[in-house]
Amino acid sequence: MILPEVKKTILVVSFGTSYADTRKATIDAIEGNIAETFLDYEVQRAFTSRIIRKILKERDEIEVDDPQQALTALKNKGVSEVIIQATHVIPGAEFHDLLRTARHFKDDFEKIVVGMPLLSATERDLRKAAAALTRQMPALKKDEAVVLMGHGTYHAANAIYAELERVFKEMDTDNVLVGTLEGVPTLDDVIRKLKASPVRKVILMPLLFVAGDHAQNDMAGDEEDSWKTILTTEGFDVECYLHGMGENPAIQSLYIQHIRDAIKGGCRAHLH
Ligand code: CO
Repeated sequence: MILPEVKKTILVVSFGTSYADTRKATIDAIEGNIAETFLDYEVQRAFTSRIIRKILKERDEIEVDDPQQALTALKNKGVSEVIIQATHVIPGAEFHDLLRTARHFKDDFEKIVVGMPLLSATERDLRKAAAALTRQMPALKKDEAVVLMGHGTYHAANAIYAELERVFKEMDTDNVLVGTLEGVPTLDDVIRKLKASPVRKVILMPLLFVAGDHAQNDMAGDEEDSWKTILTTEGFDVECYLHGMGENPAIQSLYIQHIRDAIKGGCRAHLH
């Protein structure tokens, strides 16, 4: 029997992580889920981070293409349809870099589309993501709060973090706050809100696809500038939830929905 040649590919693009455990639980997991969901597509991986790809190659002998290399390989293979789905959280600078790369290949495939990141700033997405995140949270008492640590960026898409917090409030989940490492709301903003509330115990969770360096160190590390240390010093009991969002099946489903939307020509990024 001659197997039909696979002419359709879903390229799953992640920042990448050098932490093998979280990579298995998040990136490997969603790629497997995507492969099982879209049976007539081949699933390929690309990592955007040059540093991560270098570490993986030199330390672990794992070679991962960047998006440019992956798309070039697909083009040379004669693939006709490419659906690019990033595991990014917001459509920030990295996502726009990916769009720019994809645009270079727009005449090389019969079809090439890019699905939207997890939080694409539509109210519907934000509500679905908030509901999905709630599933990984314990029932909170009046004096307990979840603080989600997002990456944050100088890019205008940073505004989505505050929007997500608003959506949690509107869903009557008052005790979920969102902070970011590199944008606003800052950790200081979060602490100010916590101090104006009856909250005594904080559960820190990464608003990141993987629980890699930022989650392990910036959030949960023992250094004096980690969020855990700072919140503890501010008098809160701190618990850390060290799982990337990519482990959450409800979050995975949202990305899969975004792939479906992109295939159907619905909500997707435009490659003009
Ligand atoms: Co970073």
